[in-house]
Amino acid sequence: MSSIDYSETIPNNVRLSEDRTLQRALMQWQPNYLNWWSDMGPDGSQAFDVYLRTAVSVDPQGWAQFGYVKMHEYRWGVFLNPGEADRKIHFGDHKGEAAWQDVPGEHRANLRRIIVTQGDTEPASVEQQRHLGLTAPSMYDLRNLFQVNVEEGRHLWAMVYLLHKYFGRDGREEAEALLERRSGQQDNPRILEAFNEPTPDWLSLFMFTYFTDRDGKFQLCALAESSFDPLARTTKFMLTEEAHHMFVGESGVSRVIQRTCQVMNELKTNDPAKLRAAGVIDLQTIQRYLNVHFSVTIDLFGADQSSNAATFYSTGLKGRYEEGKRSDDHQLKGGSYRVLQVRGDRLVEQEVPMLNALNEVLRDDYIKDSIGGVERWNKVIEKAGILFRLTVPHKAFHRRIGSLAGAHVTPEGRLVSHAEWEAHRNEWLPSAEDRAYVASLMGRVVEPGRFANWIAPPVMGINRQPVDFEYVRFN
Ligand SMILES: [Fe+2]
Ligand SMILES: [Fe+2]
Repeated sequence: MSSIDYSETIPNNVRLSEDRTLQRALMQWQPNYLNWWSDMGPDGSQAFDVYLRTAVSVDPQGWAQFGYVKMHEYRWGVFLNPGEADRKIHFGDHKGEAAWQDVPGEHRANLRRIIVTQGDTEPASVEQQRHLGLTAPSMYDLRNLFQVNVEEGRHLWAMVYLLHKYFGRDGREEAEALLERRSGQQDNPRILEAFNEPTPDWLSLFMFTYFTDRDGKFQLCALAESSFDPLARTTKFMLTEEAHHMFVGESGVSRVIQRTCQVMNELKTNDPAKLRAAGVIDLQTIQRYLNVHFSVTIDLFGADQSSNAATFYSTGLKGRYEEGKRSDDHQLKGGSYRVLQVRGDRLVEQEVPMLNALNEVLRDDYIKDSIGGVERWNKVIEKAGILFRLTVPHKAFHRRIGSLAGAHVTPEGRLVSHAEWEAHRNEWLPSAEDRAYVASLMGRVVEPGRFANWIAPPVMGINRQPVDFEYVRFN
């Protein structure tokens, strides 16, 4: 059950060959997907042989096989975690009933919307990152980018399978529309704002894969609790792929910091101008990139009070992060939760019904999780003997969604006037100069074992290969 059939046109572990209608529908979608990949996938990469991992089973141990693949020949397919016998719904109004193997009519529209919204982020990130291969800081990093890209493509397959199998004609139309929207395009943009922002440079990519792929992790964890069992099973397998994406981000930022600290010590300076002259990224600029990516990402969790969030939970469509490990009643009817609001010239906490605050609950869990890596980055700075600490900005900083939208709040959490915000904005968010400087560092370094000046090499290679392994053959 857990092993994947690669003898078929569409690799899968869902016995696709036994469902001819579905198989035919997916085989009609497949060439459109490949056209999308050749138009919007990694720029100029068609001829490359890339050392990639491919899923060969969904077992937690040893699901991946490594080898050279041309990306457009990557075996994208449909992989679900095995089902649990007699799985029960474990939260919401239907708690205790059998999990759904099909979509209940009354939840069809909401489930479709959840699946489409998740599915839309997957090709969006590929589109956002499609030019980065041209400025890779090393062959090792180039390979990691491509690995993330093909797996986001696979995540799209995961959602499209659900749309085709369970949503009939509407599902097929949504699956087509997922290939038609384009990140950042005016007339047909991707659904969520953060997925329409450009990812213009590698510092942005590392911040994106650390912060925004982690949003993906939390959304997938919440969907892995779903009463709709096929959604729970497919998101569980997606999560095993997601871990590598966050690794790319965390280790990427860490290596940028390490290199900067090394040059700070060599030159005995903490002057950003001198560090820029030496071709590394000053820690202040790294902090500003962190600030923007963190704030844009936490907006993805939605409004702090949301009746949709309450409905999704009560009807059993979407749980909380680690729902199964919590010890409350899993219905939350009488509970309350504190959300932040602007009142006059202050930020105040307000108690609101828990069910309406579930976006905020997930956002707070996300914030706790994302602080961990920032602390590990600080260890790198500390180890270099440098007195500087990166911090995650206040939750109310630079928000565009919910009751904090548009409030002028400093990274420390102080509400300030518009004038004060404008006067300090370039200390808190990347300025045009910061972005131009980072862009000026982006050049293509792709000889095996060589690294751009602004980033340290990794401690080890991929799949126990050496760091100077030939991860990409350009042909
Ligand atoms: Fe993904
Ligand atoms: Fe991801």
